Amino acid sequence: KKEPIAVQGAMDVEVSALLDAMGDYKEEKYGNFSFYVGEIEDIPVVVSRTEVGMVNAAASTTLLIEKYHPKAIINQGTAGGHDPNIHVFDTVIGTEVMNIGSFRSEHLDEGQGMKPEKWIHMTTDIREADGETKEYAALPSDEKLVKAALSVADQYEYGEVVEGKIGSGDWWNREIDRIQWFHEDFGTSAEEMEAFAVAQVAHLQDVPFLSLRTISNSEVTDDNIEDLEKAGQYGAEFSVEVVKAIGK
Ligand code: 5AD
Repeated sequence: KKEPIAVQGAMDVEVSALLDAMGDYKEEKYGNFSFYVGEIEDIPVVVSRTEVGMVNAAASTTLLIEKYHPKAIINQGTAGGHDPNIHVFDTVIGTEVMNIGSFRSEHLDEGQGMKPEKWIHMTTDIREADGETKEYAALPSDEKLVKAALSVADQYEYGEVVEGKIGSGDWWNREIDRIQWFHEDFGTSAEEMEAFAVAQVAHLQDVPFLSLRTISNSEVTDDNIEDLEKAGQYGAEFSVEVVKAIGK
């Protein structure tokens, strides 16, 4: 049996268009995590609802790899814009992902307050196959998968498809200064709550990873829209095209 391409979404609105594209599928549950096994144009696919947040993303990715041995993992869904040039319903190909919940603060005395803008990003230590640990400030998407996504970018009708850096953490940031700090100091294009955790687990198991995110809200444009449902659907429809491009 051929290894499937795995496509993850945290919420139903981020997976339902993929289930529509499969048509026939079988739901398999491990604990509270649902996996939907089927095909898109004869390509074996497992769609995974990871649930929201870094811990859920890591736990469900571990199960995904153990149970399905996917040949690639696409983590996709909605995101909040950090780049003022990226608009609601644009889709970001996350060429790299970083953990924006991983910081160390400098010592301040009692009464000196909290100074997030002075926080120092903490890298992630990963023990590699050779037993040595390596420090990562960010993790890359697989180059071939990025190319496959770019090859179908012209089929996306709802906005632009751009390459960028995705920030992940158990956060929903709406403070403009903080968003600008992430964008300017760390180069993030958008934020969400799963990709880095998935990339970290995928890296441990040497499974090719791709981050794709459709902007559902932005504090730094004048779009004034927050629509997770539409962004989730548009992103999942684009992911269907990316699956076809990878499966070719
Ligand atoms: N900040 C954080 N997460 C966001 N999501 C969409 N927009 C944002 C945002 N501005 C995604 C997360 C999570 C869910 C709340 O939606 O990835 O799964």
